[in-house]
Amino acid sequence: MKIERPRGTRDFLPDEMERRREIEKRMRKIAESFGYREVATPTFEYLELFTRKSGEGIIEEMYVFKDKSGRDLALRPELTAPVMRMFVNECSVMPKPLRFYYFANCFRYERPQKGRYREFWQFGVELIGSESYLADAEVIILADKILKDVGVNFSLEIGHVGIMRYLLKPIGEDRASKVMRLIDKGDREGLESYLAEIRVNEDLRDKIFSLLELKGDESVIEEAKEIIDYDFGHLESLSALLRDVGVDFTLNLGIARGLDYYTGVVFECYAEGLGAQKQVCGGGSYELSSLFGGPVTPSTGFAIGFDRVCEACSVEAGEKSVVAVVSFKGLESQAFRVASMLRERGFTAVVDVMGRNLKKQMSFASEMGVKYAVILGPDEVKSGRVAIKNLETQEQVVVAEEELFSILQ
Ligand code: HAM
Repeated sequence: MKIERPRGTRDFLPDEMERRREIEKRMRKIAESFGYREVATPTFEYLELFTRKSGEGIIEEMYVFKDKSGRDLALRPELTAPVMRMFVNECSVMPKPLRFYYFANCFRYERPQKGRYREFWQFGVELIGSESYLADAEVIILADKILKDVGVNFSLEIGHVGIMRYLLKPIGEDRASKVMRLIDKGDREGLESYLAEIRVNEDLRDKIFSLLELKGDESVIEEAKEIIDYDFGHLESLSALLRDVGVDFTLNLGIARGLDYYTGVVFECYAEGLGAQKQVCGGGSYELSSLFGGPVTPSTGFAIGFDRVCEACSVEAGEKSVVAVVSFKGLESQAFRVASMLRERGFTAVVDVMGRNLKKQMSFASEMGVKYAVILGPDEVKSGRVAIKNLETQEQVVVAEEELFSILQ
């Protein structure tokens, strides 16, 4: 009986893996050009790492299990909390800011659909140690650059959860988090009935609804000032800098984000043509260090949904040319030797491992789309020569072994 993959997981065949690696390579290159260095954390962590602040939504979706000693563990649903745990444990005394990036798989027990998987990959960065708008600006510029470079058509929306959280202060942190979650889900009816349930007065209710509808250019900041007495300096400076450097964005004060730890600026990128799962990047500023026993350390970052980007972008993997070394029976060790010479010169070379005759080796090479076959026959081997056949044109030449490389270039 066949065994299926677990729901929400995928297999990746070579063509797709090559394309994914190409996209990953570009993302790494850009992050590194901004001075970010790669980090890695465990695939599973103590459950508590994610229950302290990630929020109910994430907790419900977690893969949780006990190990053989009865410890509660979870497969990581994201990497911000793990990276901050690592920061507190290993690098809190390093000079700041710290610039980290990661590319790793994450696990969420969600209802699988196109663009939503139970195992998916994130390419993310964390910029640790600054509360300046400049830090938010840097990570937004970086996210924008990565998505543009891989050819995703997207729009960028920037908000600030600190404003709504400030407005919600009177109702207490837990209730405020619930309100933020309903806003994030876009569940206006749910929000309305929850506000009624916790008896929020009409003035506050109206302010909440007015604030979350504010979307547009910088004029929304002026409108927000009419609703709430808050210092908008950070958002104003950030907006001005991003305009100066040519980053296109819309302000959206209704962005709440699905994770609870955000404190200030938040942002999301939506790709065209992806339907419901169009959010290809999400991030913002947060403070998790003190929650994990470290010093208060304002940080900011984002994670790109790598699988969604792969669906939305136009990057193709470069063509790799493969040389097939085909040989007569009895010349197998010669074939292995020539193949290894080719590999040392940077070619990809394959030999027959099926014990096939020459004709079958040739037709397999053609089937695989190989351009050149290097043919070893008894006469050639004796005189230190090889035949090279171009399988596309059927042209064949016989050359001395040393000349092989110049012809294959
Ligand atoms: P997030 O918005 O939960 O943020 O996830 C980031 C991105 O991961 C999403 O925008 C989406 O593209 C992708 N993603 C999430 N769930 C799935 C899924 N089930 N299948 C496919 N892709 C998915 C975070 O995880 C934060 N840690 C980001 C961050 C970093 N904030 C600050 N630093």
